[in-house]
Amino acid sequence: MSLKTFSCRVLFKCLHHGVFASSKPLSARDAAAAVLGRSSTRGYYNTRKAKYPQQGGVAHGRVVDLRSDTVTKPGPAMRQAMAEAKVGDDVMREDPTVNELQTIAADMFQMEDALFVPSGTMSNLIAVMVHCRERGDEMIVGDLSHLHIYEQGGSAQLAGVHATTVNNLPDGSFDIEQLESKIRHGYPDPHYPRSRLICVENTHNIQGGRVLPLTFLQEVRALADRYGLSVHMDGARVMNAAVAQGVPPSTILQHTHTVSVCLSKGLGSPVGTILAGPQDFISQAVRCRKALGGGMRQAGILAAAGKLSLLEMVGRLEEDHHNAKTFAQALLDCDPPLFAVDMAAVETNILRFRLQEPSLSPSEFCARMGEVGEGEEAVLGQGIQVLMYPHFGNSVRAVWHLGISPEDTQLAIQKMQLVASQYLKEMAG
Ligand SMILES: Cc1ncc(COP(=O)(O)O)c(C=O)c1O
Repeated sequence: MSLKTFSCRVLFKCLHHGVFASSKPLSARDAAAAVLGRSSTRGYYNTRKAKYPQQGGVAHGRVVDLRSDTVTKPGPAMRQAMAEAKVGDDVMREDPTVNELQTIAADMFQMEDALFVPSGTMSNLIAVMVHCRERGDEMIVGDLSHLHIYEQGGSAQLAGVHATTVNNLPDGSFDIEQLESKIRHGYPDPHYPRSRLICVENTHNIQGGRVLPLTFLQEVRALADRYGLSVHMDGARVMNAAVAQGVPPSTILQHTHTVSVCLSKGLGSPVGTILAGPQDFISQAVRCRKALGGGMRQAGILAAAGKLSLLEMVGRLEEDHHNAKTFAQALLDCDPPLFAVDMAAVETNILRFRLQEPSLSPSEFCARMGEVGEGEEAVLGQGIQVLMYPHFGNSVRAVWHLGISPEDTQLAIQKMQLVASQYLKEMAG
């Protein structure tokens, strides 16, 4: 069914004329959720995950899982490569498949060396540990960065590294003057920590998959060089950035000393991240990885998947970006309007949008998208559960990945239009 033939307005009319069996007014629970679910602009500290109850009498709907690109599962080719991988003891640096993956990655990122590590979180922590080796070292991070918000303060907790924050602008970048103002000049005065590291995130997760402009990265690197600091990029999704900018990753990474690239997000591996940088940095990183319990043995089974991610999965990221834009446009086309979307900000596979109607909170919207309501099968031909998360600033986040086809995206659009229409009917009625 096309967007045009299935607009919110049509559904709104259907609902208004009683086509659906259940068109309940806002219950006390709904009203409470609507009020309580409204989050502050800094609500990312307490993001509560939406619950997806199986309500409305239909036990199983078709599921479109837009919660994260971490939910991808390896397909048959990847599983076969994993099954056939040549392996050895990687702590002894003897796993041929891991070694091959690391060579491929170093080459692709134009870095001297690379290391396969279990996760993005460990990779960032190792990077911080290696860049900030002395007690009293400090790093500068974005106030909305994954490293600062979602990694449990591991760099303080486990590495003893102090962080100072700089504001992330809506595109994920920083104001360069503010960044410069965060650099300490007091060393060796015993009052002050010593600035060592600047961390950037590309694409920027919380800011909705935003791609850092190359000119910004150039400015950050020039500043770092002027003050003798290092630049680490949390490039969990840097391949999405490269695809969106139409450049090889090395064009982006020439401005950083080190990078962490996740293989287990849009690139589809079940596990694994690459940490890349200069040779002496990677030698130290090998030690830190072992200390953190990340020394894996016959890891070639996982590295085989990683090789496919880097060699064969990058090109398909464009599809995710396209599908995210298609859904974003459908939100905008919703008539009467219920959603606010900045199309220029939809650059990659992560979409953030807001609800224009204050009484419909992100958590309530996500709950409605995730449950199959009574009468839904009659209207949509099947039950559809679309899973997404409420996000900070009264917004909702949806993420596209290799498990979501253009057809799934159309199903998500139909479900969104149904939920919007039902809600508007309740408001009117
Ligand atoms: C930007 C960013 N960095 C790091 C990570 C951490 O990766 P992992 O889940 O592999 O620890 C994530 C995970 O979503 C992320 O989005």
